[in-house]
Amino acid sequence: MAEATFAIRPARDEDRVPLAVLYAAVAEERDGIGAEPPVDVDARAASWQLDGALVAVARDDIIGSLRVEQTPFGFGDIGMMVAREWRGRGVGSALVAGAIEWARQHGLHKLSLSVFAHNTAAIALYHKFGFVEEGRRVKHYRRANGELWDALEMGLLL
Ligand SMILES: CC(C)(COP(=O)(O)OP(=O)(O)OC[C@H]1O[C@@H](n2cnc3c(N)ncnc32)[C@H](O)[C@@H]1OP(=O)(O)O)[C@@H](O)C(=O)NCCC(=O)NCCS
Repeated sequence: MAEATFAIRPARDEDRVPLAVLYAAVAEERDGIGAEPPVDVDARAASWQLDGALVAVARDDIIGSLRVEQTPFGFGDIGMMVAREWRGRGVGSALVAGAIEWARQHGLHKLSLSVFAHNTAAIALYHKFGFVEEGRRVKHYRRANGELWDALEMGLLL
């Protein structure tokens, strides 16, 4: 089993490739994030936005990430992922706590996100930090297999 300790820190330039590799692995699950295979890892690494990005690191491995996309309107949009083998061990919680701190430091008044309506783990994580459901987008995301998935809009006033 992997070591149970990890740290949260801002993402750095050298994290680009491991972040893109993790993103591709989570996309392969076709379940939690919008992206589905194939993911062009090199292109994704090159275009990864580091501003507002946090990573979870265990030893030298990137095991999770979260990005707050700051808008000009005072809110930030969150996207996040944790490596499958590390889930359920507090990594997501540490990333969300870090994002809330980052958002407060940057003067945001709110965090928001979209989550697939079936994603019970993510929804429980967001509820744990006080996010509330603000709406439901019905049959919003068309998946590669043709299914149309609902998404919940969630928000946290800071
Ligand atoms: C959603 C995700 C980020 C959660 O990360 P994590 O590291 O497993 O989260 P944590 O271990 O900190 O768990 C946080 C809370 O979520 C809940 N939770 C975690 N896994 C759960 C599960 N399988 N079912 C129900 N609730 C769950 C628990 O309430 C937990 O709170 P607790 O620590 O007080 O028990 C992770 O599952 C993931 O990366 N999934 C794939 C990508 C994804 O869905 N991203 C989010 C897109 S919106």
